[in-house]
Amino acid sequence: MLSPSVLKELARIVGPAHLLASPEELLVYSYDATRQQSLPSAVARPASSQEISKILMLANRERFPVVPRGAGTGMSGGSVPVMGGLVLSLERMNAILEINEEDFLAVVEPGAITGDLQSAVEEKGLFYPPDPASSRFCTMGGNVAECAGGLRAVKYGVTKDYVLGLEVVLPTGEIITTGSRTVKSVAGYDLTKLIIGSEGTLGVVTKIIVKLLPLPETVRTLAAYFPRADDAARAASQILAGRIVPRALEFVDETALRAVEAYLKEDLSAGAAAMLLVEVDGPAETTKRESDRIGDIMMKAGASRVNRADTPEERERLWKARRSISPALYTLKPKKVNEDIVVPRSKIVDILREIGEIARRRNLLIVNFGHAGDGNIHTNILIDDAELERAEAAVKEIFGATLRLGGSITGEHGIGTAKAAYLPMEIRPEALTAMRRIKQALDPNNILNPGKIFL
Ligand code: MLT
Ligand code: ZN
Repeated sequence: MLSPSVLKELARIVGPAHLLASPEELLVYSYDATRQQSLPSAVARPASSQEISKILMLANRERFPVVPRGAGTGMSGGSVPVMGGLVLSLERMNAILEINEEDFLAVVEPGAITGDLQSAVEEKGLFYPPDPASSRFCTMGGNVAECAGGLRAVKYGVTKDYVLGLEVVLPTGEIITTGSRTVKSVAGYDLTKLIIGSEGTLGVVTKIIVKLLPLPETVRTLAAYFPRADDAARAASQILAGRIVPRALEFVDETALRAVEAYLKEDLSAGAAAMLLVEVDGPAETTKRESDRIGDIMMKAGASRVNRADTPEERERLWKARRSISPALYTLKPKKVNEDIVVPRSKIVDILREIGEIARRRNLLIVNFGHAGDGNIHTNILIDDAELERAEAAVKEIFGATLRLGGSITGEHGIGTAKAAYLPMEIRPEALTAMRRIKQALDPNNILNPGKIFL
């Protein structure tokens, strides 16, 4: 609980209209896409780094938790106020401050919607490649906090590959800048990379400088439908082995296909057991050659049909279906244990086989879809409450198999609360201690997003 004097002080900092405390308002800021829920005592909506600095200084003095929040689309509980306290919503700091066509960069505030940045730079013939499935709603600050990946990472990398510099309010209230507006800089420790992916535990990001690329001249999209899921997974490996790097290479299994078809009331696949969604970009002659080769590889690997999406409407229809899988799966069972394991690309077939065996042995409905081109599979265990214990045992086995194959337990969603218990499976005690020491050095009173990453 926050005392009346703290609430009064907070209202003075952000203005009474931007301090929320009614039960309805608190509910809105209490959960993320995991559907994990915990009520904060209040929500502050600051308008500047100075206001955030004052809030954090107050939090250190009065010892209350502060939980930064973007749009709440996170998949690991990162923005859920599990210890109560104050939610710090960055929604008012949502400006695209600059698009610099000469230096190929943009400067945004953390509350800017990722899709809005993409559209704004594309109008100028520029390109911001990171593209989380939730790009229409998620915020740049959240993307930085979790190091979001998304649909185009296979060719272009993830959020950390585009962030040149940050303005950050440290947990103790100091405002710092990291990195620079240049493509290179090796001045001191790389604090930019330390903050990216730190899940709102080491600082509140208040400004983000991202690099941009020229907008690719053409884009071609193919959807291939397979009667056997194994063949689709093998085709994904063969495309990459063929020395083609598409900008997207997505796998969707049978249950995910049926769920999204029912959710959108469309028949995409005529009953296929798996779909690969592949997109290439670049000069017209290159995309033509590459998409033809990819089409051949997929047919030879066992696809029954390859559709070329020639119009923007057809492309949009396919991507809408892909982006809708996550919400569609909630229509199948009340609970979804959503993992985002990542294995070396050559091991996709192996991990899918192991997950299949675990599902059979434990008698669970496990759905797989996602970024096959990155080796990053969204493994979703769909359960009723009564199946929770079995699901947890299965998660442990899936993580074990992932690590044996040389992978990582999370490719893009982060540890948050959802995977905190499993982090020691991947990170050795010495490295965990080093991480804790960094946290302790920057946040001695543990006020910023406590209860995340470490148990
Ligand atoms: C996706 O790729 O659709 C997202 O990461 C969300 C999910 O895992 O459900
Ligand atoms: Zn994803």
